[in-house]
Amino acid sequence: MRSNAQLAEFHDHAPQEDSFRDAVLEGLARSRKAIPCRFLYDARGSALFDEICRVPEYYPTRTELRILEDRAGEIAALIGPHCQLIEFGSGSSIKVRTLLDALDADAYVPVDISRDHLRRAADDLAADFPNLDVVAICADYHHPFRLPSRPVRGRRFGFFPGSTIGNFEPDEAVDFLAMCADLLGDGGAMLVGIDLKKDAAILDAAYDDAAGVTAKFSLNLLARANRELGADFDITRFAHDAHYEEGAGRVEIYIRSLVHQKVIIAGRRFHLAQGERIHTEYSYKYTIPEFRDLARSAGFRPTMSWTDADDLFSVHYLETGG
Ligand SMILES: C[S@@+](CC[C@H](N)C(=O)[O-])C[C@H]1O[C@@H](n2cnc3c(N)ncnc32)[C@H](O)[C@@H]1O
Repeated sequence: MRSNAQLAEFHDHAPQEDSFRDAVLEGLARSRKAIPCRFLYDARGSALFDEICRVPEYYPTRTELRILEDRAGEIAALIGPHCQLIEFGSGSSIKVRTLLDALDADAYVPVDISRDHLRRAADDLAADFPNLDVVAICADYHHPFRLPSRPVRGRRFGFFPGSTIGNFEPDEAVDFLAMCADLLGDGGAMLVGIDLKKDAAILDAAYDDAAGVTAKFSLNLLARANRELGADFDITRFAHDAHYEEGAGRVEIYIRSLVHQKVIIAGRRFHLAQGERIHTEYSYKYTIPEFRDLARSAGFRPTMSWTDADDLFSVHYLETGG
């Protein structure tokens, strides 16, 4: 058994459980049905996302990890000693290990909405980095949350990998980054992973892999509604639908109804026509200049931008304070 010293401190500011119910009932009542993407991540969804990261078509994880491995020394030199590292949407906290190996960090604050997955990942990391103060915060990062009230000797350093910022509409991404800049304060810095615009065929395959792992991840949203809300979705009557819309610069992800059907959720009845779609997620892609402009609009000063040899993915170092 582990001693307490090796466990992460855990703060639970997760949304109330009825928020999923309200979002599903409200989202399915709309003429263009939609359920926000944060609900894709219950414990099962987080485990499936980890599987997606290992499918051959899903290049973002391995490409970003390679950039971080190559640049970890440079990043550590920019950040300096004794930082408090705050990771937004930390998932399994895999990529941050590459940074922590290179950095002289005092504290790590993983923030994620997926409570049980976060707790496990934070405890594993605390056990592997026994000199690090690990304080996990379960929260919806769309809303301001409080950081641990510890004195910080070095910089506050934000980390937002995985191109997760692509799930925001561009104007929401600006608001989110502005909130991060406030949270990090003067002298703060942030590292953001951004998937780059590219050939539609590469993106379509990455978001709909041949083994069907992404489809499982997507349809888990309906399975979650069955588990948590007593809904009666027949998962076999739905399909995952993902494609790159070049004009909009985003991968659009839906769950498509294969037949005309009705479902009952929390006593409410909803009809879906054959072919009708429930929108679940956008994944915006950027060019390097587009993302640097977006970061500037949020009040950051972009300094370094790194990419891989094939220009698939990019990692950006941003500083607060104009
Ligand atoms: C695309 S995954 C990326 C995971 C990991 N950072 C990586 O790069 O592989 C997005 C992560 O953000 C979390 N997440 C999604 N929406 C969130 C929200 N509104 N608030 C907090 N965490 C959220 C998910 O639980 C998941 O762990």
